[in-house]
Amino acid sequence: MISRKFPKVLYGGDYNPEQFPKDIWDEDMRLFQLAGIDIATVNVFSWALNQPDEHTYQFDWLDEVLNKLHENGVYACMGTSTAAHPAWMARKYPDILTVTADGKKRKFGKRHNSCPHSPTYRHYATAMARKLAERYRDHPAVLLWHVSNEIGNRCYCERCEQGFREWLKKRYGTLEELNRAWYTRFWSHTFYDWDEIVLPSNLSEGMGGGSDQTAFQGITLDFYRFNSDSWLDCYLLEANAIKEVIPDAMVTTNFQGNGTYKPLDYFKWAPHLDVAALDIYPENHTPESYMALRYDLMRGIKDGAPFMLMEQTPSVINWKTVNPQKRPDVMRLRSYQAIARGAESIMFFQLRRSLGAYEKFHGAVIDHVGHEHTRIFRECAELGQELKQLGSVLLDARQPSKVGILFDWNNWWAVELGGGPSAHLKYLDQVQHYYDAFYDSRIPVDVIHEQSDFSQYEIIIAPLLYMVKPGMAEKLEQFAKQGGTFVTTFYSGIVNESDLVTAGGYPGELRKLLGIWVEEIDAMFPDQRNTMVLNAPLGALSGEHPCSLVCEVVHPEGAETVAVFGSDYYQGSPALTRNRFGEGEAWYAATQPSREFIRSWMRRLCEEKQIKPLLDVPAGVEVTKREKDGVSYVFILNHTEKPQMIALGTGRYEDLLTGRSLSGDQELAPKKVMLLQLTSESK
Ligand code: GLA
Ligand code: ZN
Repeated sequence: MISRKFPKVLYGGDYNPEQFPKDIWDEDMRLFQLAGIDIATVNVFSWALNQPDEHTYQFDWLDEVLNKLHENGVYACMGTSTAAHPAWMARKYPDILTVTADGKKRKFGKRHNSCPHSPTYRHYATAMARKLAERYRDHPAVLLWHVSNEIGNRCYCERCEQGFREWLKKRYGTLEELNRAWYTRFWSHTFYDWDEIVLPSNLSEGMGGGSDQTAFQGITLDFYRFNSDSWLDCYLLEANAIKEVIPDAMVTTNFQGNGTYKPLDYFKWAPHLDVAALDIYPENHTPESYMALRYDLMRGIKDGAPFMLMEQTPSVINWKTVNPQKRPDVMRLRSYQAIARGAESIMFFQLRRSLGAYEKFHGAVIDHVGHEHTRIFRECAELGQELKQLGSVLLDARQPSKVGILFDWNNWWAVELGGGPSAHLKYLDQVQHYYDAFYDSRIPVDVIHEQSDFSQYEIIIAPLLYMVKPGMAEKLEQFAKQGGTFVTTFYSGIVNESDLVTAGGYPGELRKLLGIWVEEIDAMFPDQRNTMVLNAPLGALSGEHPCSLVCEVVHPEGAETVAVFGSDYYQGSPALTRNRFGEGEAWYAATQPSREFIRSWMRRLCEEKQIKPLLDVPAGVEVTKREKDGVSYVFILNHTEKPQMIALGTGRYEDLLTGRSLSGDQELAPKKVMLLQLTSESK
């Protein structure tokens, strides 16, 4: 959808010319040209500049910037400047200031500092978005709109509290219903009046210790939902203001936390964004599969549509204890990794390095030295030229996949709200653990959500499906019945959407599908291990394999036992089961198998479904495939420090990055990438 407007994979990033004297702007334009930059995200943190007081708006500086960008062939990704409010506004209207989970009213400072229920914030942010839209409606530089920046914090002020009560009234209708959902007879919590309800903060339900743990999971879950919705409302106020003026405007905002930002349910947000966009800040040692999962999630968030990489650093970040440089070629390699998984923009924070305040040492395309003769600039410029040459060839290419990994924010929240078998049980870890099996095998995966069409997949994995929402069990049963292979893990099927346990035996609503009853859940300390002993070979697997974290006491109720525990009082009881269900089957891992085990197990499941790896390549080499108009584009990325041999077989390919024609065995240098288009099939 976005490709209609994007001429190519966009290249650029955050540009804050307002921090510099104007006489530098022309030099910026010269350097942008040199670097092949064609998009600049502007006006992100300029609320105070744009609105020096309540009644005055001044955009002359922005007119000038936009005109200059346009004259130089650079598009603007138009920020709405509302992610940090002006000091005068905080002084005059303190309702805009947030209250911390410890009940402290904050003073003016930092950014992302507004209360989502502050009338001042809502009014002036919306007014700003509208004014900008009116002013720049017809400006040829503006390609898309970027609401606020990395939206989301939590505020515990009285207005938010009142907002929470209103939200609850809509959700539950009656207090009786709310009391039931929250299980309030526990610890004398029955509410007789809506006004008795307070936010679950560190002053109320928080269990302390800096964790998410809370005394009432139902209350806190609803607060998380409410908070995510509140920010979505704020996003929509601005987005709708823009669209009232420019009906066909493309509007988005940049997702934070590498796309897995816990406080916001991005699946719920996604339909309201014209394109999904994420900021990604891995460290040098971050495994590549970590980013791969997040990119697949960003693609999944809009059901396979391409997304934008809105921010990455070309070189260093500034906010970790130690901030090493990206090594030569890594920025390029990681940029292609994003494109390989569906990104249609490669953008940096930021284009010119700030001279003052917190981010003066954050990486940028143009360094403090101010000229183009730096390693970072050279690397950026080379990539810029390459992307120019690539043109539009990859725009809107899709990534067909037969495997879906189910992801759910509500479930993530619920798993980690406390009271479970282990505080070491982390939802993202479990999702990553299973994702890695496919990543390692070069088998493409879609990250899917509760509303996805399951019938397009052969295999669906739902790691730690602790919360089963209404209709989910039936949907999964239907999937298996029609021949699908379903896989889930320990600690699944435990609660409903209010975190109330499904009585009558775990895994609750999934019991029929899985054909088991889980009697006990045992937790292990991080260094403890048990083993899984296979009853018969499972693909390449046989014998005994380590497992960890959680072991459950499982009774088969129709399921076949594939592996048993090797020790402890549940020695010999099922550790891995398979239940035939209709035309398909449902697998249950009653423990956390090793990465190697899961890889071989998933390989086996894929073989049964004739799902093949894209290419057989050495470890540390990533492969993806994108398709468009019947043409396949294969990305091969060498993340290792050594040259790797890639066996292309008898097909003949063109490397779109070098123009070379390739077939047979080809060496791929360390940190380099091939982008292959098949030109003729093997005979
Ligand atoms: C985030 C923000 C940017 C900048 C970078 C620094 O992604 O959106 O404004 O602060 O972090 O890494
Ligand atoms: Zn508030």
